[in-house]
Amino acid sequence: MNKMTGQTPLNEVSAKPVVLPDAQTVTHVEHWTDRLFSFRTTRPASLRFRSGEFVMIGLMGDPDPKTGKQKPLLRAYSIASPSWDDELEFYSIKVQDGPLTSKLQHIQPGDQVILRPKPVGTLVHDALLPGRRLWFFATGTGIAPFASLIRDPQTYEDYDQVILTHTCREVAELEYGRRLVEHVKSDELLRELTEGGVDKLVYYPTTTREESPKMGRVTDLLTSGEIFRDLVVDGISPETDRAMVCGSIGLNMDLKEILEGFGLEEGANSDPKHYVVEKAFVG
Ligand code: A2P
Repeated sequence: MNKMTGQTPLNEVSAKPVVLPDAQTVTHVEHWTDRLFSFRTTRPASLRFRSGEFVMIGLMGDPDPKTGKQKPLLRAYSIASPSWDDELEFYSIKVQDGPLTSKLQHIQPGDQVILRPKPVGTLVHDALLPGRRLWFFATGTGIAPFASLIRDPQTYEDYDQVILTHTCREVAELEYGRRLVEHVKSDELLRELTEGGVDKLVYYPTTTREESPKMGRVTDLLTSGEIFRDLVVDGISPETDRAMVCGSIGLNMDLKEILEGFGLEEGANSDPKHYVVEKAFVG
């Protein structure tokens, strides 16, 4: 600012930090393990989405060595917050040499991220036919869309029982989901919003590489029937059960086969059926 004129010279204007396109401000960051973190951002006033959908988010990439120009570096991220929330929440892996997450893992409250406000995805209520019991099958960061859906009143309006399974290698990787379920069950606002529907939520965490009360891949627990005995459920059938799956490609393929073996058919937004699948996105 020029003290004499009160005007800002042009060179000072151009020295201001670059305002990112579709920028949102980071409001909160939480690191869960050396490989996992979650963060919250402001929400564009115009952004409407259905719980379970994803958006493209990211940061500006490094300048091109030849032209010096920067391009946005974007990846698909499931929105982990429910559609009624004022802010947006995301749950991410940290890949040390990942083009985006090697940088994104260092964001702090007040920083900006790019968020393209075009939500899409198949893990939505509209892609399923009415049913009595809803299964959410997640591995790793695949829990993110379900973090949104277990905070959505419609989940409890539409189903008598909601079962969230989460399989991770180690106990610490379950913590984000464990805390979230604890919050969902005890939070006054959520109890009110869902008219106590949150009591219908059953949480079934398992680990595969570290000792915990329940061990094994969810696929093996389904095939052996152990999960049904544990939860006192009489199996999965197309008459009563609906499922959403989000994990690694291997998990998605194996679960598809298992669910189809139970007689369930894959649905889509335009053709609702018994189950839907989405890949957990890795940065
Ligand atoms: P496992 O330890 O037996 O590989 P990742 O970190 O590799 O994405 O894995 C996250 C969790 O998902 C791990 O517990 C892993 O078990 C499990 N997992 C990986 N692939 C499958 C699959 N095809 N079916 C079931 N669970 C799987």
